[in-house]
Amino acid sequence: MKYPKSYLEEIRQRLKVSDVVGSTVKLTKRGKEFVGLSPFTNEKTPSFTVNDEKGFYHCFSSGEHGGIFDFLTKIEKLTFGDAVRRLASKAGMSEYKFSKLDVETEKKVKRSEKIFQLFFNYCHKNIFTEENKNHLDYLLNRSLKKATIENFQLGFCDDGSRASNHFLKLGYHEKELIETGLFYLHEQKNILIPRFKNRIIFPIKNLFGEFIGCGGRTVLSSVPAKYINSPETIFFKKGNNLYNFNNAKSENKNTDYLLIVEGYMDVVSLYNHDIKNVCASLGTAITDNQINLAWRNFKNIIICFDGDKSGFAAAYRAAEKLIKISKANHTVSFMIMPQGLDPDDYVGKFGKDGFTSLVKKKKDITEFVFEYATKQLQDYSASSLADLEKRLMDIADTIEDVIIKKYYKGFFKNKIFENLIKKNKNKLNKFQLSSKFDIDRLEMSELEVKEFSLCQLLIKFPEMSEKNIERISEIDLSLELTKKIRTALLDISLNGDNCNYEKIKEILLGANIQNIDTFLKFVDANSFMTNVDSDTFVSLIEDYELQLKKIQKDKKIEELEKSFSSNMSEQALNELISLKNSNNL
Ligand code: CTP
Ligand code: MN
Repeated sequence: MKYPKSYLEEIRQRLKVSDVVGSTVKLTKRGKEFVGLSPFTNEKTPSFTVNDEKGFYHCFSSGEHGGIFDFLTKIEKLTFGDAVRRLASKAGMSEYKFSKLDVETEKKVKRSEKIFQLFFNYCHKNIFTEENKNHLDYLLNRSLKKATIENFQLGFCDDGSRASNHFLKLGYHEKELIETGLFYLHEQKNILIPRFKNRIIFPIKNLFGEFIGCGGRTVLSSVPAKYINSPETIFFKKGNNLYNFNNAKSENKNTDYLLIVEGYMDVVSLYNHDIKNVCASLGTAITDNQINLAWRNFKNIIICFDGDKSGFAAAYRAAEKLIKISKANHTVSFMIMPQGLDPDDYVGKFGKDGFTSLVKKKKDITEFVFEYATKQLQDYSASSLADLEKRLMDIADTIEDVIIKKYYKGFFKNKIFENLIKKNKNKLNKFQLSSKFDIDRLEMSELEVKEFSLCQLLIKFPEMSEKNIERISEIDLSLELTKKIRTALLDISLNGDNCNYEKIKEILLGANIQNIDTFLKFVDANSFMTNVDSDTFVSLIEDYELQLKKIQKDKKIEELEKSFSSNMSEQALNELISLKNSNNL
């Protein structure tokens, strides 16, 4: 009796080879691998390696090689069944109970697999015949290379009863042909009809590369249902499989991410452009099982939906649902195609490089959920923001992993503050201030507010300014207006004039400084402390100076980032890195 492959695979996925081998052999980590003294030979220098990523051990002195089950059968001399039982229990799985049904299912699966093989071979050959040239041409006109057609074993199922007769002649029974989902019974005529007749055939395999189902596309716009798929059968569970995963999974040697697209043709077309780490969700909403399947081989998953309304809505539904299985060291991100294009269209237009650059613009699931949720925000009122926070917290509450949950909640709260409250502070402040003071029409930036406040401090406390004249003259101001105000103030101090605020105001007004009234309006509108001691004054000055430096640094970073994204020079990059890392503030 054979264990189902999926059961063994699950054990393999749950256990690291190093954990299994490590209880017999002392292993030391070296790079990505572990090394130790071979249990197969009597050696003094280690030649035995274990690679968890690839799931095997290898002994360079004896040539022994294998996975976790081999290790137990060879080293601990267990039977295969005992090794499976031992490791299943180590992996926290219950023992596999074989039933009568297993025996029957296994037989059935074997027969069906054979039927699938014959059917797909039949259809694949079919598409290269003269008779079906227009269908081959259809694929070639969609720019598919012959090698791509062969790789996916695309085919054509002709009309009529030829395919059914072919199988009946081979000795297969009606019932088992129907059970594969490839045929159905025409009740009235009592004949077997190929479900995918007159359609281009996309064979579907499970992760082990065994055929489980089929997709079929009509090339005629008059025929209803552009695509049809196999019905759910004992071997075809849409939500548990991904189209092309059996091929895509080995791409994890070259990349750490897998793309999940919507359509068969998207997968085929990306492959045709040499993008092979891609599979499709088989016409269903993406399920947890599909993501967990993909995570077995790839740390990162990028879900790529069509650039239309339904694609975007499907992506968001997927995000809201999938966030609950978020786990450490694994990611789900989203990329949305530009309006009206699907991945096939896009790669056809902009090629592999164009597509790869688009992949880089992907958004992490949290960013994606946040952006979508904020799109619905009506205004920045406290109640709208509270609604938004509530919605995001509810979504985050579905997350099963408690630590991830905590961080995602923090992320959302912080984003609300940074992106909505802080960035729109002007809008908020304006609203709050306008009733009290009349400075809303001044439309001030953060920088202006800070520099104006600093100058206000100087003119309200001229004596203290005079005592700190050197320090004040060294502050790096950015605005022409505030620079002029400071110069005027320094002049007054240097002249030894003993001034109060009213007198200074008069001098400033007479000094012909452009926009001085804006500043004076600000001063009048702002209530201000009437008394400070010398220490407080100095620390206020220092504080403003620091804040101004920070604003200038942020501005510089923003400018550099902008110029770097359009013109990537080494110098700009280095400047950017050193600026970002500078902790002098
Ligand atoms: N699909 C389906 N039934 C349909 C239409 C679509 O099951 N009637 C599924 C198929 O798996 C298809 C996927 O949804 O591959 C995407 O459909 P669609 O975007 O309409 O097709 P494309 O992938 O763009 O295919 P093509 O470029 O061949 O039109
Ligand atoms: Mn398409």
